[in-house]
Amino acid sequence: MVANPVSQRLSNRRILLGIAGGIAAYKSAELVRRLRDHGADVRVIMTRAATEFITPMTLQALSGHPVHLDLLDPAAEAAMGHIELARWADLLVIAPATANTLSRLAEGRADELLTAVALATRAPVAVAPAMNQAMWANAATQANLQTLAARGIRVMGPAEGSQACGEVGAGRMLEAPDIADRVAAMFESRLLDGVRVVITAGPTREAIDPVRFISNHSSGRMGFALARAAAAAGAHTTLIAGPVHLPTPERVQRVDVVSAADMLAAVETALPDCDLFIGTAAVADYRPAEVAQQKIKKQAETLSLALTRNPDIISRVTQASPRPFTVGFAAETNDVLAYARNKREAKRLDMIIANDVSVPGIGFESTENAVTIISSHGEQSLDRMPKEQLADTLIHAIADAYSQQHPNP
Ligand code: CTP
Repeated sequence: MVANPVSQRLSNRRILLGIAGGIAAYKSAELVRRLRDHGADVRVIMTRAATEFITPMTLQALSGHPVHLDLLDPAAEAAMGHIELARWADLLVIAPATANTLSRLAEGRADELLTAVALATRAPVAVAPAMNQAMWANAATQANLQTLAARGIRVMGPAEGSQACGEVGAGRMLEAPDIADRVAAMFESRLLDGVRVVITAGPTREAIDPVRFISNHSSGRMGFALARAAAAAGAHTTLIAGPVHLPTPERVQRVDVVSAADMLAAVETALPDCDLFIGTAAVADYRPAEVAQQKIKKQAETLSLALTRNPDIISRVTQASPRPFTVGFAAETNDVLAYARNKREAKRLDMIIANDVSVPGIGFESTENAVTIISSHGEQSLDRMPKEQLADTLIHAIADAYSQQHPNP
C-alpha cells in the first residue's frame, strides 16, 4: 500500500496537467512523476510556448501518453478530442500558469487547446502561478487572479525566493511535491484509496479437444460489478476474467484468461502486488485429463472422459506469504450457510459471501443477487438487489473489514 494517506487520494484519479510557457516548466516533469507515483493517471497539455522550455517527448515518456498540443490537429482530435479530454479529467491543474495564461483564462479564451479545455471541463481547476515578481505584483495579474478565484479556480502559491531572472520576491512556482499534495487534498478520501485489489471473475473453460470444452453458467457480472465498485472506491483494480462478454469497467486493468490453469498463472503474477483478493470466479473444479489434439469423432454410443482436479486458486492465495486479505464466494444449492462456513475455514478465507443459486432470479446468470456475508466478526444477510448495488454494499463491508486489519499509519 502507498504509505501517505493524503496522496492515496490520487490513486486512480485522472489528472490533466496543463503546462504553459515559463522556465518553471522543467518542474512539471517532476510533477508528472509524483502524481503517477501516487497512482494517478496523468495526461499533459502543453502550450506552444511551453515546448520552448521542455520537450513534449519528455512529458510523453513520463506520463505514458502522447502530449496534447494543438486545438486544430485532426490526428490528435481523432485520438482524443478536446471535449473528450475535458470530460476525461477529474481535475485540471495548470503548472506553471504564466501571467499570459492566467490572463487568457480570466478572459475565457478558447483559441488554443489549454484554455479551450479549461473552458470545456466540468472538473475542478487549479493553477500554480510562476512568473517574475513584478509581473506577479502587477495589478493586472492580481485582478485576473481575483477573477479566477471568484470562479472557484484554486490558486496554489506562488512561493517567494530567488527567481530565474535574478530577482527576489513572490512568483516562484511551488515545488512539485507541494503541488502534488495540494492536488491530492482537493479530492475526498475514499474507502479503498491506494489499496491494490485483484478480482477473479467469470467461468473457466477446460478444453476437451480443439472445438469442445467444459464450462459453467457463470456470467461474470458479480465480479465485474465488484471491480467497478472497487475502482470507484479508489483501489488499483486488476480483474482476471474468464471468457465472458462484458465491457471492462473504467479504471480497471483487465487480464483475460481461458482455463483454470491460465487463471492461476495470472493470479500468481498479480499476487506480489495484491493487498486484497476477491475470488468470484466459478473455476471449473475438473478438467479433461488429456486434451485431444484433433477433434474427437463420434463412434461408440457412450463416451467417457477422464477428468482431473484443477488447483484451488483461492487456497493458493491464502497460502501465499505475505497473504492478502482474502474474500471468497460460495454458490450453493442447499445447506448454503453450513457449506459456506466450512469453505471459509477450509480455504482460510477472511470473509466468504454465500449465495443460494437454487432460488430463481438470483445468482449465476441473473442481474440480481441476495447474499450472506460471513466473517470472523459474524454474519450479515443482505436482501435481494441488483448486482451493481450489491457490489457497492459488498465493497463497503469488505473495505471495513480490511481496514480493521490494516489501520492507516
Ligand atoms: N475457487 C477457486 N479455485 C477453484 C475453485 C473455487 O479459487 N478451483 C474459489 C471460488 O472463486 C470461490 C470459492 O473458491 O471464491 C468457492 O468456490 P466454490 O466453487 O463454491 O467452491 P469449491 O471449492 O469448488 O467447492 P464445491 O464445488 O465442492 O462446492
